[in-house]
Amino acid sequence: MKNESQVIVRPARNARGSVSLPGDKSISHRYAMLAGIAEGPSRLENFSTGADCASTLGCLRSLGVKWEHKDSADNVIEVQGSGISLTAPTEPLDCGNSGSTIRMLSGIVAGQKFSSELAGDESLSRRPMERVITPLATMGARITSQNGRPPLIIAGAELKAIDYKMPVASAQVKTCLLFAGLFADGETRIEEPLRTRDHGEVALQAFGAHLDRAGNEIRIRGGQRLRGIEARVPGDLSSAAFFLCAAALFPGSQLTVTNLLMNPTRARLLDILVQMGLRISVTQLEEVHGELVGTLRVEGGRLRGATIAGADTAALIDEIPVLAAIAAYTEQGIEVRDAKELRVKESDRIASIARNLRAMGAQLQEREDGLKIPGGQSLHGAELESLGDHRIAMAFSIAALRAQSETLIRGSECAAISYPAFFATLEQLVER
Ligand code: S3P
Repeated sequence: MKNESQVIVRPARNARGSVSLPGDKSISHRYAMLAGIAEGPSRLENFSTGADCASTLGCLRSLGVKWEHKDSADNVIEVQGSGISLTAPTEPLDCGNSGSTIRMLSGIVAGQKFSSELAGDESLSRRPMERVITPLATMGARITSQNGRPPLIIAGAELKAIDYKMPVASAQVKTCLLFAGLFADGETRIEEPLRTRDHGEVALQAFGAHLDRAGNEIRIRGGQRLRGIEARVPGDLSSAAFFLCAAALFPGSQLTVTNLLMNPTRARLLDILVQMGLRISVTQLEEVHGELVGTLRVEGGRLRGATIAGADTAALIDEIPVLAAIAAYTEQGIEVRDAKELRVKESDRIASIARNLRAMGAQLQEREDGLKIPGGQSLHGAELESLGDHRIAMAFSIAALRAQSETLIRGSECAAISYPAFFATLEQLVER
């Protein structure tokens, strides 16, 4: 994203209204990839509008998968599955800014009969890939990288199943290995150190694969065939988190979010917000292709503090930026521990949060694996940097709503990585 733009966010009184979010990013990536290697057509409604999922679709097209954008209003994507054999790409696969694209697609191209190069932008080129390289190489793929970073050149092979204990809690890695397991000879067994989002498992089952799941262990047999599906992608809970935190800032807030993802491996945010004082009710809960979806109604109340550590940190990994951004306004403050992974996201998120909070006048402690942000502080508006990180741009536009003066966020265009309409929707939901 070269054309840098900026937004000004003015203080607000509360957040009110009703909103439906574009499709969840994690599910959209997985549905697109599985639709690409399934047999028969798939129709994916409310597909993510973010640039990251467009990167996945672009890579699939380079791998010979035919897909069409059908209805812009509902962002419908129709994919003609290629079956498990894809076509050799004639140029590097451009994964853009998307860690999910490069890591999960690696599992699919590792099982092909050709070599692929997977590359991305400057931020992606700094992100660690040994976490997929090591297990995929054990399965038989030959992979070269730049010291464990992209670009990756993956020479596909006849993969063999492995029994793998993941050293890092990462749903992208888990999904990569489950996808590779589809192409492997035998049964692949994966064990994760902490429970991470299970959209890979749920999506594989939706496309007709059989898996065995027990605790933190998943087993998948190679050679299974997938069939296309018709699905509506539930609204993105990590995008909704910004509006929920906006509502949490003001006792007078009332927000309704329809068609929202409620998958239990993603919904820890709701528990934390309830503990902090937001009143939340869920109605119209239903299961769609194994994913829970519902309507959420929230009302602002008190804003107590929270400690996020251990398994909670893994469960809230994408929501920590916005929780940290509102932490100074809480009664007791927020402490985040065990979050070293945040340092290797689209930016070093611990440093990005600390820098922007300090620019707004906050006191805090930055630690190697987290942050401690005391509560009861009042912040002033400031000139902030997105640091090219979509979640930082959006998180600080929420912090700006309760600042004493207006805030300018530079590089705000990066919100389009996950949610292009974010700033327009935020303006519709806040009252001044
Ligand atoms: C994702 C997993 C998480 C998350 C990312 C999406 C996924 O990354 O931060 O935004 O869809 O599996 P890690 O697997 O690196 O934890």
